Amino acid sequence: GHWPPLAPNAQVWVPDASEVWKSAELLRDYTPGDLALSLQLEDGTVVEHKIDPKTKNLPPLRNPNILVGENDLTALSYLHEPAVLHNLKVRFIDSKLIYTYCGIVLVAINPYESLPIYEADIINAYSGQNMGDMDPHIFAVAEEAYKQMARDQRNQSIIVSGESGAGKTVSAKYAMRYFATVSSSSGETNVEERVLASSPIMEAFGNAKTTRNDNSSRFGKYIEIGFDDDLCITGANMRTYLLEKSRVVFQAHEERNYHIFYQMCASSHLPEFKAFKLGCADDFNYTNQGQSPVIDGVDDAKEMSKTRRAFSLLGIGDSDQVGIYQILSAILHLSNVDVKDQSADRCSILPDNAHLLVFCELMGVPCEEMAHWLCHRKLQTTTETFVKSVSKVNAVHGRDALAKHIYAKLFSWIVSSINNALTSTVKQRSFIGVLDIYGSTCLSSQHVFKLEQEEYMKEQIPWTLIDFYDNQPCINLIEAKLGILDLLDEECKMPKGSDDTWAQKLYNTHLRQNAYFDKPRLSNKAFIIHHFADKVEYQCFGFLEKNKDTVNEEQINVLKKSKFDLLLKLFEDEEKPKVSTNKFASITGRAGKAQRDTKKTVGLQILKILTLYTPVIEFEERVSNTFITTIKNLLKGRDESSNLMMDVKKIFSVTFPFTPSSLALETIQVPTSLNLGFLIRV
Ligand SMILES: Nc1ncnc2c1ncn2[C@@H]1O[C@H](COP(=O)(O)OP(=O)(O)O)[C@@H](O)[C@H]1O
Ligand SMILES: *[C@@H]1O[C@H](CO)[C@@H](O)[C@H](O)[C@H]1NC(C)=O
Ligand SMILES: *[C@@H]1O[C@H](CO)[C@@H](O)[C@H](O)[C@H]1NC(C)=O
Ligand SMILES: *[C@@H]1O[C@H](CO)[C@@H](O)[C@H](O)[C@H]1NC(C)=O
Ligand SMILES: [Mg+2]
Repeated sequence: GHWPPLAPNAQVWVPDASEVWKSAELLRDYTPGDLALSLQLEDGTVVEHKIDPKTKNLPPLRNPNILVGENDLTALSYLHEPAVLHNLKVRFIDSKLIYTYCGIVLVAINPYESLPIYEADIINAYSGQNMGDMDPHIFAVAEEAYKQMARDQRNQSIIVSGESGAGKTVSAKYAMRYFATVSSSSGETNVEERVLASSPIMEAFGNAKTTRNDNSSRFGKYIEIGFDDDLCITGANMRTYLLEKSRVVFQAHEERNYHIFYQMCASSHLPEFKAFKLGCADDFNYTNQGQSPVIDGVDDAKEMSKTRRAFSLLGIGDSDQVGIYQILSAILHLSNVDVKDQSADRCSILPDNAHLLVFCELMGVPCEEMAHWLCHRKLQTTTETFVKSVSKVNAVHGRDALAKHIYAKLFSWIVSSINNALTSTVKQRSFIGVLDIYGSTCLSSQHVFKLEQEEYMKEQIPWTLIDFYDNQPCINLIEAKLGILDLLDEECKMPKGSDDTWAQKLYNTHLRQNAYFDKPRLSNKAFIIHHFADKVEYQCFGFLEKNKDTVNEEQINVLKKSKFDLLLKLFEDEEKPKVSTNKFASITGRAGKAQRDTKKTVGLQILKILTLYTPVIEFEERVSNTFITTIKNLLKGRDESSNLMMDVKKIFSVTFPFTPSSLALETIQVPTSLNLGFLIRV
């Protein structure tokens, strides 16, 4: 790195094991070539700070005190990690200010307590104002989008990102509340109310308790709010991405399944739920694995009545509602269907298995057939079809795959029903989109990165131009014929296929042939994909097993024999009921085979949203030179291998890896490139 020279008495930041960064003052002048600095910490301790002879990196400089607490990070003279953290901390600790700008990006700290800053009078205060004239706030960002849409008739989008628990969903909700408040609806029915009513439903079906967030959304959501010529809300449309299906059948310790299951169990005593033969959440294997059926301060029975009210408000009728709970109850009973071992590749389900009987009764399907296809598979070769018994382990996998599949279908059906309820006949002129994306897909930093590149080009600094929007070669590597997934499917069909033999085939086919593919030097069981601006290493272990985790088509055929109206609707236009678990989903947005075939991956959809609707040009115009320079310095000052985890006195936990390892990417779900990912970006 090239830091400015250190002046005598310079104030610097030094890394600290417990406080992450500590402030210190230089005691002696620094002369280039010195191997250590003599520093005095604020408590008076004198320390020797070693300088790495290779990198010769000096500690980052502190900003002049007068700048600390600025409401825009780009106003700081030095914008590096300790500066960002210190500034945010001072604002939050001293003044309870959770919002700070970084150029046009809004950074938010989750206060974990309700602050009196979201009431209608605050909305009114922000309405019609300029972003720069007001304190940083989510309402200021919403107002800016609204104003620009009104003035320039351009569609807008707000992107909310950050790690799990950072406050994305809450922020997205406040943005929507803002639009609902400042624009009265034109139609006779109250559109805003309906838009807001979709939240409790989506939360019930797509949120769950995790160890990081009692109410974590396990899917990505993009909502477009439509406006007419008079800037009144006409309706809304929602798209969801990457629902975490595995949660339906498995929950880690202290985590829960989706809220709706617990809401139903808590309401099992109600007359309308009697027929479902539910008990408490401890009774079902899909709701008791985390051993944490209760969330402090949440009354699941009360939440259930909120969910039901929301359904009714959206015009989803009683019979459909009953149908939904009936299907969910059937899933719970399915989780308790006991499969008995018969031999190494044979298993059975007793014909009088009580849970299977309830499952079949609720779904309206013949029990014997269901039991048969839970324990058998139909295999098709080119010449003949035969039926093969399966092992207990495979039968249980098949059962779980079925449960996930039904749940995912139900989820999509609910989303489309909500969309029907939110669509209006009034002509929509423009829209504002709000993207609340969970997981490691960070999108907005790509824009900043793009700006970065353009600056480099202006200054003729050598820099490889990557077109962030042309993700096709990478998608081809993954999805085309002889691509990674194709080879995976092939390997699954081989009698002796294993994760390792698959890895070998990948190397044979793609190594040194495909620029987006690589192999880690020290492993024969992993591969690397160059996604966007960074590389991700995948461990091959478990891929084959996961890929085999597909739904048994015959089970679906049994369900299709039902006369249960809603159930049939779920499977209406299903051609191939095969749904693979999607290991790549978080990166490329592969969402099952059907979508893969049409090449409409979720990742592509998101990219399309951004290229079409994000006013990139405007974004660029409004990013100041200071912003770009500081970001550049920030990147320059980075040692390639630095990977720092921050936890500032437990007040807010922050992760700040500039070159995150693949492990870090997996576990902390922090995005790439620029990495202000520990912050919420709106
Ligand atoms: N602006 C805020 N004010 C008060 N509490 C908040 C705020 N943002 C988030 N929270 C708290 O943090 C929790 C997690 O936020 P959430 O939006 O669900 O996180 P994410 O969607 O990023 O996983 C919320 O349930 C709420 O208790
Ligand atoms: C904005 O979106 C609407 C659809 O809601 C579309 O008809 C219109 O052309 C878009 N406007 C611009 C400027 O792209
Ligand atoms: C989930 O969070 C939302 C706010 O984002 C809140 O309205 C709702 O009550 C919460 N539900 C549960 C079950 O915690
Ligand atoms: C349910 O879980 C219990 C305890 O974890 C286990 O003994 C039982 O076999 C499971 N039942 C089924 C049907 O998976
Ligand atoms: Mg969320």
